[in-house]
Amino acid sequence: MSMKSNKWVIIISILAAVLVAVSAAVILLQLSNLKTDLSKDAGKQETKKEKLILGFSQIGSESAWRTRNTQSIFEAAEENNIQIIFDDAQQKQENQLKAIRSFIVYQVDVIAFVPIVEDGWDKVLMEAKEAGIPVIIVDRQINASPDLYAGFLGENGFTEGQSAGKFLVKKCENDMRNKINILEFSGTENSSVATGRANGFRDVIKNNPKFRIIHSVDGDFLRSRGKEIMDKIIAENKGLLQIDGQRVDVIYSHNDSMTLGLLDSLKKNQISPVNTIIISIDAEQKSIDALTQGKLNCVVECNPNLGPALMDLVIKIKNGEKIPRETYTEETVFTEDDDFSTYKPRGY
Ligand code: AHR
Repeated sequence: MSMKSNKWVIIISILAAVLVAVSAAVILLQLSNLKTDLSKDAGKQETKKEKLILGFSQIGSESAWRTRNTQSIFEAAEENNIQIIFDDAQQKQENQLKAIRSFIVYQVDVIAFVPIVEDGWDKVLMEAKEAGIPVIIVDRQINASPDLYAGFLGENGFTEGQSAGKFLVKKCENDMRNKINILEFSGTENSSVATGRANGFRDVIKNNPKFRIIHSVDGDFLRSRGKEIMDKIIAENKGLLQIDGQRVDVIYSHNDSMTLGLLDSLKKNQISPVNTIIISIDAEQKSIDALTQGKLNCVVECNPNLGPALMDLVIKIKNGEKIPRETYTEETVFTEDDDFSTYKPRGY
């Protein structure tokens, strides 16, 4: 081989060696990038796994109370780094059943839901149990075997009804009339709160026959229904606040939305609320304002701020701790006898 061709062999060999080295470096770089990507993904999956997922089915947004209840749950979830998968059931149990089933398919860590009515939950709760997903019942109670859910958090509708009844009995203790006629606006039929508020109220007034519930009507917890019902009653009774010729002395309404609706109707029909004892439940700002303006006589509080207590229960369950069967919220009663200057803004 000549000197010239020898030189070319050396140059080509060096170039080949450089090419191999560069390719190897590129492959190594790609592998190391891939490794970083993979470990990043693994990290992401780990955080995703660590963040607790709560499937929450709310019944809708029928009142300011309900809106605050939803907000409270979202705020507390955020504070506790809990992810919520939310469903608004638009006041339909069938939508709640669908939502709960989708939470089961998604394999959330815990399910919480506000049952619109008391009955019809056994099957879906059994499915959640079989999937190993604990369920917390929020705000309203259900008729189902206690072993199908972890626990209940919310108000005691019966006690709220009793508070309303106790106010009325005290208010009328020196009233010598032998008939005090009561018109009741009831909440959603077959909901635990409506049943509890009706039964608790009756439990207190039953011992004095002068208290007579002359009419009870389902207003579905809605302001529009409260107004519509009151309009109809007034129209059917020649523009007066009467039922079949009997004067209405007391209105007991299961929530503020219906109360505000019936007040709208009284105003429209130029009937002053001052001559009727009106008792409401919830304590939204608007009804507290109506109380301080003399349009209502008593407002029983129902506390919508269930978020912090709910997140405590969710975390306890995930830590394998047992939670109480029932957790009730603290509630107060606002009356016309209060020093209004002590009232704080309600926030809803
Ligand atoms: O279940 C709680 C009740 O539901 C509240 O009193 C009412 O405002 C809501 O619709």
